[in-house]
This record gives sequence, structure tokens and C-alpha cells, in this order.
Amino acid sequence: MSTEVRVRVMDAADVDAVTALAAKLPMAPQWQLDAYLAALDPQTSPVRIALVAETAPRVLIGFTVASVIPPEAELESIAVVWEFQRRGVAWRLFEALTDKLAAAGVTKVLLEVRASNAAALSLYRVLGFAETGRRPGYYVHPPEDAVQMQRGIQ
Ligand SMILES: CC(C)(COP(=O)(O)OP(=O)(O)OC[C@H]1O[C@@H](n2cnc3c(N)ncnc32)[C@H](O)[C@@H]1OP(=O)(O)O)[C@@H](O)C(=O)NCCC(=O)NCCS
Repeated sequence: MSTEVRVRVMDAADVDAVTALAAKLPMAPQWQLDAYLAALDPQTSPVRIALVAETAPRVLIGFTVASVIPPEAELESIAVVWEFQRRGVAWRLFEALTDKLAAAGVTKVLLEVRASNAAALSLYRVLGFAETGRRPGYYVHPPEDAVQMQRGIQ
């Protein structure tokens, strides 16, 4: 039987679960609780759109966060618990994100990713992102280049 996955907007009650989920994924950005709470605050600049994927109310299996400065947005984080990887959850999260970004007047999405993060690079290429450059030594722990990518949205 396939598990039903729902994507919805992140709220403050999700933040503990989101932090715990990211902590189990070494390649995911490790934000502190306050950073997520600030991301959910519409008064914080830049504004962020944050979504979660869940299999039941508050049973989180993934999330994504983007900062929004129309007409551009930056995909800051996208992560899926390993048990649910390769089932299209990141795809679903990104699809829902692009709907919201388009509604916010965004036409271009940018991101940076560790050069060794093969899963993320593969996902981003499938999602239509193209490589635009590299930032040598951009990441520090451990030191590594960032691959810069972008794609348009309508
Ligand atoms: C990257 C990540 C978010 C992908 O999530 P996911 O839900 O497994 O991705 P999807 O199932 O939607 O994958 C869609 C497509 O992307 C590609 N892809 C995703 N993960 C892949 C992997 N590990 N290896 C190769 N291709 C991959 C595939 O083409 C896949 O389609 P397919 O399964 O039909 O072949 C997940 O591996 C993850 O959470 N990684 C740790 C956190 C991270 O590195 N995030 C990115 C930086 S913020």
C-alpha cells in the first residue's frame, strides 16, 4: 500500500521535528530552532516560504525553505528522511514551492550546493536547474566548492 504524502506550509509547531529531521541528514543545512522560527516570521527580511511533507498530521518526512526577494528566490534547504527518499517527495515539495514562488512574483530560483552532494545535484538537474558557476572553497566544514545553479519559473 502506498503512503499518502501531504505537503503544507510549515508552522512553529513543526520546528522541533524539522530540526531533528535535518540533524539526521549530514548534507542538509543545520539551522538552529531560532533560524526556523525567524524564517516563519513574515516580518523577517528576506521573507521565506517554508513547506513540510507529512504522512499524517505532524509526522514529518521532509521540508523545504526558500528566501524570496522577487523576482528572485534562493532555495536554501530541501531534505527528505532517508526512509522516504527516491519516492518523489522532494519533487512534490519543489512543485508546491514553485507554485507559491510564482504567486509571489518570482521568475528565477537560485541555489548553491556542495560539489560532492550527488543526490542533490541529480535532483536539481531533474528539476530543471542548470549550473551557472562555482564558488571555490565556499563551504568550510568540510572545505568544498559550491556549485551554483538556477532555473526559471513561470
Ligand atoms: C536530495 C534529496 C532532498 C532528494 O530527495 P528525494 O525525495 O529522495 O528526491 P526525489 O525522490 O523527489 O527524486 C527525484 C529525482 O531526483 C534524482 N535523485 C534524487 N535522489 C537521488 C540520488 N540519491 N541519486 C541519484 N539521483 C537522485 C532522481 O532522478 C530522482 O528520480 P528517480 O528516483 O525517479 O530516479 C534527499 O536525498 C536528501 O534529503 N538529501 C539530504 C539533504 C540534502 O542534501 N539536501 C540538499 C541540500 S539542501
